[in-house]
Amino acid sequence: MSLPKAELHLHIEGTLEPELAFELAARNGVALPYADTDELREAYRFEDLQSFLNLYYELMAVLRTESDFEELADAYLARAAAQGVRHAEIFFDPQAHISRGVEMGTVVEGLGRALDRGEAVHGVSTRLIMCFLRDESAESAMETLEAAKPYLGAGRIVGVGLDSAEVGHPPRKFREVYEAAAAMGLRRVAHAGEEGPPAYIVEALDVLGVERIDHGLRCMEDPELVARLVRDRVPLTLCPLSNVRLRAVDVLAEHPLVAMLDAGLVCTVNSDDPAYFGGYAGDNFDAVREALGLSRERLRELARNSFVAAFLDDDEERRARYLAEVEAYEFGG
Ligand code: HPA
Ligand code: ZN
Repeated sequence: MSLPKAELHLHIEGTLEPELAFELAARNGVALPYADTDELREAYRFEDLQSFLNLYYELMAVLRTESDFEELADAYLARAAAQGVRHAEIFFDPQAHISRGVEMGTVVEGLGRALDRGEAVHGVSTRLIMCFLRDESAESAMETLEAAKPYLGAGRIVGVGLDSAEVGHPPRKFREVYEAAAAMGLRRVAHAGEEGPPAYIVEALDVLGVERIDHGLRCMEDPELVARLVRDRVPLTLCPLSNVRLRAVDVLAEHPLVAMLDAGLVCTVNSDDPAYFGGYAGDNFDAVREALGLSRERLRELARNSFVAAFLDDDEERRARYLAEVEAYEFGG
């Protein structure tokens, strides 16, 4: 669906399509334990978050040079633009690269080369948000924040997030890192309530001071928390196809998106790891429209929310322009 939208929950490493993975593997002399792209696609059957993460980290081994990261981001921007994405706040996982000997600068400069052309070539404005791996130590996260210092600011890293295996790694583990990030003027988000309990969402708000919750699906188990999220207008970056593939919900028709919107939550729809979960941002919109019978006004509400929730405070004119595009959009069919 080409309805104009912002994508606020997208892991750039999760946009690595099998074809590009094999191309980069050949170029970099990395052996992949799959015969071809079909066999690799066959491996895209997940039981839960961890089973996905295992493959996600394994395939990253093919990403080695600035050009690799540039091509990855270029390919994402082209696909996103074709599905109506006008603004993307892109996550990346520096620790997953640094631990393989690929430096922060290689990742950020490589991605940055593509993002710098994002608007001119694809009509997509961008921001970068670096995520800490919550199953790594707080010390490692702090070192990663230090390593990012040369790359902070407009056009590069504007915020921090928290991802990877959630259960057993509560937000409070990263209190000091988030305090340091806030002192550096960085925006704060965190994955919470994907597989973890509603209490992790509360902690992300109270202890880490996050401005948006990534996923946040399980807030629905805690009415008091829902009331708080509604009152404070805390945006949730939902990823419906991801939720089905990682079995957070059984089938899309049972996704709580409608109940969440009815409750007054500021929901957005995003793709998470589109190469793995069966679709990009527009595909996620199409899928929920179909499975949940969303009206045009509901779809427009989701798109509007995405721009309201975007970190565009430094460019309100742009936000207003995008919001006007949402209102002017004419649905086909
Ligand atoms: N959840 C947690 N960590 C992740 C995800 C996700 O959906 N995608 C990439 N890393
Ligand atoms: Zn995610």
